[in-house]
Amino acid sequence: MPLIAVLPGDGIGPEVTTQARRVLEALGLDLQFEEAPVGGAGYLASGRPLPPETLALAKRADAVLFGAIGDPRFEGLERRLRPEAALLGLRRELGLFANIRPATLFPGLEDASPLKPEVVAGLDIVIVRELTGDVYFGEKGRRSTHEGLRQGYDWMGYDEAEVERIAIVGFEMARRRRGKLCSVDKANVLETSQLWRDVVGEVAAQYPDVELTHMYVDNAAMQLVRRPADFDVIVTGNLFGDVLSDQASMCAGSIGMLPSASLSAWSGANGMYEPIHGSAPDIAGQGRANPCAAILSSAMLLRHSLGEDACAARIENAVAKALVAGARTADLGGSLTTGQMGDAVLRELK
Ligand code: IPM
Ligand code: MG
Repeated sequence: MPLIAVLPGDGIGPEVTTQARRVLEALGLDLQFEEAPVGGAGYLASGRPLPPETLALAKRADAVLFGAIGDPRFEGLERRLRPEAALLGLRRELGLFANIRPATLFPGLEDASPLKPEVVAGLDIVIVRELTGDVYFGEKGRRSTHEGLRQGYDWMGYDEAEVERIAIVGFEMARRRRGKLCSVDKANVLETSQLWRDVVGEVAAQYPDVELTHMYVDNAAMQLVRRPADFDVIVTGNLFGDVLSDQASMCAGSIGMLPSASLSAWSGANGMYEPIHGSAPDIAGQGRANPCAAILSSAMLLRHSLGEDACAARIENAVAKALVAGARTADLGGSLTTGQMGDAVLRELK
């Protein structure tokens, strides 16, 4: 029986994860769930954001359903004790180098986007973000300059193997979709990006059926607002992908709608599934959070880690139908609570 590790985390994480789990349980699949604390909750429970038992559970499980982490109470702690360290630790320890972030405009949400309906119509992007390298995982620290000034630094770098494996994920994804891959970098300034561009270009030779373009990240940020529906698959590094995926989420109406999968291989590997939104401490515990991103993450879990494509599609259709029927949480301009939004999706699942 597949084991799902449920790591609700902080802030709104537990609220949205509860709804995702309800939906998974309603499918009638034989699934086993085991819960463990992570992030600020992990720190409170055991003095470490990623308690060893939580990591062991994540490694043992067939898939991880993750909520969100981040708690302002712990912002002053040294970096390795902050909630975010748990997320980065899980990504590194589980080898989750490929982060898949689809941004799709659900019918009926055209007006929820701050962009004009005619600009976002037909929006259907997948951002493939590298997740275990780049400036996130390079050497970092503080030092003193020659003038005695305090200086902070973070080393940015990719080796060719890291670029090649994420490029392959981008090409495979594009091949299964509309056949267009846009690689985003800053090769006009950064040597890391020039290597990225070179290697992506080399991998392209194996994918003559995919149309590859390269775009500088500043231009990509602009085009995402100007003509977002023209993008199919975007492949990019860790830092640029972090920024562009939040931006893409607003094209789709709300960051509360975007799920993600973090995978250790293109297919058949373990994975971690989480909404791309954070812990939103300002609304935590109020039942106002949109559970759709978490629910859609559970659909990605079924598809990528358990091979349950039909059940994944059932969940996605149920979310779509609930939205068409008018179900909306506050971020989408409605008044449903987190639990009521979960109810609305469950009704359509039946
Ligand atoms: C994300 C988040 C994380 C990241 C933070 C919480 C460390 O913003 O998953 O996009 O920067 O990767
Ligand atoms: Mg982010």
